[in-house]
Amino acid sequence: MSVSDPAVPDPTVQQQAQPIDDRVNNRSQRPTSEAFKAFMASGWAPAEGSLPGRDAVAEYTARRRRAISERFPGERLVIPAGPLKVRSNDTDYRFRPHSAFAHLTGLGVDHEPDAVLILEPVDEGTGDDGGHHSATLYFRPLAGRDTEQFYGDARSGEFWIGARPTLAELEARLGIATAHLDGLEAALTKGVGAPAIGGISVRLVRKVHEDIDALVDTARYNTAMDPEPLDLSVFDALDDQLAEALSELRLAKDEWEVAQMREAVAATAAGFEEIIRALPRAVAHRRGERVVEGAFFAKAREEGNDLGYETIAASGNNATVLHWIRNNGPVREGELLLVDAGVEAESLYTADVTRTLPVGGTFSEVQRRVYQAVLDAAEAAFAAARPGVKFRQIHAAAMEVLAARLEEWGILPVSAEEALSDAGQQHRRWMPHGTSHHLGLDVHDCAQARRELYLDGELAPGMVFTIEPGLYFKAEDLAIPAEYRGIGVRIEDDILMTAEGPVNLSAALPRTPDDVEAWMASLR
Ligand code: GLY
Ligand code: MN
Ligand code: MN
Repeated sequence: MSVSDPAVPDPTVQQQAQPIDDRVNNRSQRPTSEAFKAFMASGWAPAEGSLPGRDAVAEYTARRRRAISERFPGERLVIPAGPLKVRSNDTDYRFRPHSAFAHLTGLGVDHEPDAVLILEPVDEGTGDDGGHHSATLYFRPLAGRDTEQFYGDARSGEFWIGARPTLAELEARLGIATAHLDGLEAALTKGVGAPAIGGISVRLVRKVHEDIDALVDTARYNTAMDPEPLDLSVFDALDDQLAEALSELRLAKDEWEVAQMREAVAATAAGFEEIIRALPRAVAHRRGERVVEGAFFAKAREEGNDLGYETIAASGNNATVLHWIRNNGPVREGELLLVDAGVEAESLYTADVTRTLPVGGTFSEVQRRVYQAVLDAAEAAFAAARPGVKFRQIHAAAMEVLAARLEEWGILPVSAEEALSDAGQQHRRWMPHGTSHHLGLDVHDCAQARRELYLDGELAPGMVFTIEPGLYFKAEDLAIPAEYRGIGVRIEDDILMTAEGPVNLSAALPRTPDDVEAWMASLR
C-alpha cells in the first residue's frame, strides 16, 4: 500500500473543513438569510402576562434549605440540576433533574437542564428565613419570541421544545430568587479561597454536571494559598459531607412528600390493574413480558412523570433473576409472573411495588406454599417495624420466617438457627437481597447516608421504606427439590413510619393468595 492509499490515514492531513461535531446537521438545510431571521422573530403573540401562584411545596423546600444552611454556615453550597444527557448524536433523553436539586427547589418533571441552586453565605441570621444563606436559582429562562434562540435552538427554544419558565415565573412559583445562567460562573467563583485569608469555602454536589465540577475545581485551584501544586482531592471531603448531609436530610419525609408518595403509589396500583387486564394478550404474545411492561408504562406516563426505575416483568424462571429487565420472555399459563414496578409522580417521588401473580388466575399448591412463606416474612417484618427499632431488625424478622420455612421444607442444609448465625447464612442462596431500603425521590433513596443512620439507624416517624422479602428458586438449582424449581416470589410494599407505627401505603394492592386470586378474577 502506498501512502496515497485512502485506507491509510496520512498523519500530515489537516483537520477536514467541517468539524465532525457539526455533521449532525448535514441531513437538512438551515435558512440563514437576514430576511428569514427577521421574519421568524416577528409576528408572534406576546407571551402571557400573569405570574403563577406559589407552589404548595415552596414552604417545605424553604425549611429544607434552612436545615442545610444550619449545617454549613459561611460556606457557598452548589447544587446542580445536571445537563441534558445525549442518547445519540443530537437526540437527548428526557431530562430529569438530580434528586438533591429537586428536593431543595421543589422542581420536578423536566425542570431545568443546566440549572444550579446556589446557597450563598451571608451574615449570621440575615439570610432566607433568618438562616445563614440566601438562595438563588440560576437557569436558562425562556427566550422571547423575538429572539433567535426562540426558533434557532432545538434544545432550549420554545419553537422546538415548548415553553419553559421565565425568571419571574419560577421565582413566583418557588419563592427562590432567580438569575440568568449568564451570571453563574461569576457567582460560583467569586471570592473562592481559603477561609483563613477571607476566602469563601465552596461545597459542591459533584458528578452531576461536569462543567460545574470543572468551574469549581478551577476556582479552588486558582485561589489556593499553597505555593505547591495543589492536590484537588483535599476538597473531596467537603463535597462528600454535603452529599451526606443532603442524603440524610431526606431520611424523614415531610407531609408534602408523604402526599406525593401516596400519589405515586395510587398510580402504581392503577398500573398493576392494567397489567392484569393485559394478561390474556400477554399469554398470546411471543414476548408476553413486554406486553406486561408496556401496560404498566402506559399508566406511568398517563398518570405520572415516568417509571421510577426499569420495570421487572418476569415470568416463570425469569422471576428468579433479580434484575430481570430484559423482559423479552413469554408469559405462560401456570407460571408465576413477578412484576416489580413503580410510577414516578410529576414531583419525581416514586413508588416501588412488587406483586407476584399466578398467570392463570389461581396458585398451584406449591406456588401457594412459597407465596405464603414470603407473605408471612413480610408480615413479620411489618410487625417488627416501629419507631426506635433499628432498621436492620426489619430484615432480621423476615429472615427468621424464611429460614424456618426452608428448614421445614427440607431445603436448608443446616438448621434454621445455624443458617441465621453470621457463620451460616445458607438461606441467603434463595433470598440474596436486602429486605428494605429507603424510598422517595430515588427508588434507593438516601444512598449517601451514613450506615449508623441507615442500616444501624433507628426507625423514626416520616421515614418511607420498602418491605420486600422474596424466595427465588432457580430452575437450574440442584440443591432444592424439583417441585420448587423455576418459582420466584417477591412481595414488596411501601411503608410509612408514623409515631403510632407503620402504615402500608400500598395496602390497596391485594397481597394474600386468596385476595390476589379474587383481584385477578374481578379484572378479567
Ligand atoms: N425495584 C428495585 C427494588 O425493589 O429495590
Ligand atoms: Mn422493587
Ligand atoms: Mn425495592
